[in-house]
Amino acid sequence: MADLGINIDHVATIRQARMGIEPEPIQAAAIAEQNGADQITVHLREDRRHIQDRDLELLRKTIQTKLNLEMAATPEMVTIAQSIKPDTVTLVPEKREELTTEGGLKLTKELLPLIREIKEAGIEVSVFIEPDLEMIKFAKELGTDAVEIHTGYYANLNNNKELESEINRIYEAAKLIKKSGMRVVAGHGLNYHNVQRLVDLDIIEEYNIGHSIISRAVFTGLAEAVFSMKQLVF
Ligand code: PXP
Repeated sequence: MADLGINIDHVATIRQARMGIEPEPIQAAAIAEQNGADQITVHLREDRRHIQDRDLELLRKTIQTKLNLEMAATPEMVTIAQSIKPDTVTLVPEKREELTTEGGLKLTKELLPLIREIKEAGIEVSVFIEPDLEMIKFAKELGTDAVEIHTGYYANLNNNKELESEINRIYEAAKLIKKSGMRVVAGHGLNYHNVQRLVDLDIIEEYNIGHSIISRAVFTGLAEAVFSMKQLVF
């Protein structure tokens, strides 16, 4: 059985739309944990468009499972990670103009000192990359503990032939990650329709899923929310 990390960035996105105090991501994390989440995942973006520094501090103090911090490979973020000490840091590419993380991180040898610094703080390092065998070999050389396979391309496909070929690419990537002694993680764009094919591969150890879960929660909670307000204005 694989672990499920819940990405709660989207709860913070709704809060930031009003710059107010609700919905509270810390509460979202607690509910996720009470219902089986094995990990809480957040992306502290350089522009702080959703998760704030204060969220990260409070999550570190309150969550009872594991905290996975997605972040850009920058000195500012490394300093934050060293102080917060999440269980895992997942290095992701980041562009200010993008709506969400587009494409995997391109690994370069310049990342080596930064990865070392994070590991020396006792934090597991994961890298978010495309299912590319050369990149995976390079991740091993850089000393990363886990590789998160970017499933965004897979999630956007609807042509059967391309889908089969991408699933095969993900499987080959997962096998190499495992053989190299790293943890096999997957995430991005996964939803209630497309996750099963990956689960069937029986090799991915952890999934990080956010948008589809928060989207579904809007509808599973909407009826009760309307009903409660109607009682008040009645
Ligand atoms: N994993 C990583 C590294 C991500 O950047 C994201 C998006 O923030 C996710 C998983 C979750 O993606 P989604 O919200 O599409 O489920």
